[in-house]
Amino acid sequence: MSKIKKVALVNRKGGCGKTTSLFSIAGVLAGEMNQKVLAIDLDAQCNTTSTMTMYVDDADSYKTVMDVLHGVDVEDAVCGVLWQGKGLRNYTNYGVDVLCGDAAIDSSEGIVAIPEEQIMNAGKRINEYINERGYDWVLVDMPPSSKVINDFCFKYLADYALIPFSPDAYSASGYSQIMNDMADAREVNPSVRVIGSFMAKRDSRFGMHKALEEDMAELDSYICSVPYEAAIAESTYFGRPVCFYKSNSKGSEAYRMIVKEIDKRIKMDY
Ligand SMILES: Nc1ncnc2c1ncn2[C@@H]1O[C@H](COP(=O)(O)OP(=O)(O)OP(=O)(O)O)[C@@H](O)[C@H]1O
Ligand SMILES: [Mg+2]
Repeated sequence: MSKIKKVALVNRKGGCGKTTSLFSIAGVLAGEMNQKVLAIDLDAQCNTTSTMTMYVDDADSYKTVMDVLHGVDVEDAVCGVLWQGKGLRNYTNYGVDVLCGDAAIDSSEGIVAIPEEQIMNAGKRINEYINERGYDWVLVDMPPSSKVINDFCFKYLADYALIPFSPDAYSASGYSQIMNDMADAREVNPSVRVIGSFMAKRDSRFGMHKALEEDMAELDSYICSVPYEAAIAESTYFGRPVCFYKSNSKGSEAYRMIVKEIDKRIKMDY
């Protein structure tokens, strides 16, 4: 049996493309590679949850990751995702589910108020659920900045970090912070590591993006750049991954390349 690939989209910098990339990658995995995917939303903004449950009528009735941390069954917080098929009007579950996020996860009554043992137990129950349900991939959407949520993710949920960089002068500033958080988590999850990085939102009109791309390409983890394009922004707005929405777009191609590369790197790591 092949190992379940557990990848967190991480960067402490806000707005660099974590959620958009998770959504687009889930689309490639499920829509084109027939993979079963669980998305876990650890961001209080709940952007992954709202995008993934856009066409689910009773989405509000689902429990959340905070409820799971308080002992509720994982399956009560997992919602089947519906996407419009390519060129079709009907909504279908392509094998992607979402463990729903909670706006209170980063509040003073959120995860910081929960004892470590209880967090560990929730992580164990989530992993048991993942094994029972036979997911091929787990994709974790991370908030822009939270040490305690990074710990939860790297210790108990993800084995790999995939890092989108936004193309700006401060893009790499969060990299060392991620490395530090990961080093701390290795006490519990020794194998956790970076599996890839890429430049999100590359705009060919900006000369500096090319220069930054060349700098980023020096990183061992670097994969490619994702173009800044309307198709990608629109795809999240319409709740339809870009490979479903505009299959031939450059953005779709970039996300296919990222999936192919991380899949290859994870297999080499077995
Ligand atoms: N390749 C792209 N082309 C066009 N727009 C993009 C692209 N990638 C992301 N965006 C847009 O950039 C904005 C920020 O993206 P996103 O929400 O994915 O970032 P994030 O890292 O998840 O943010 P946060 O840290 O707040 O969770 C969104 O409006 C999204 O639609
Ligand atoms: Mg986000």
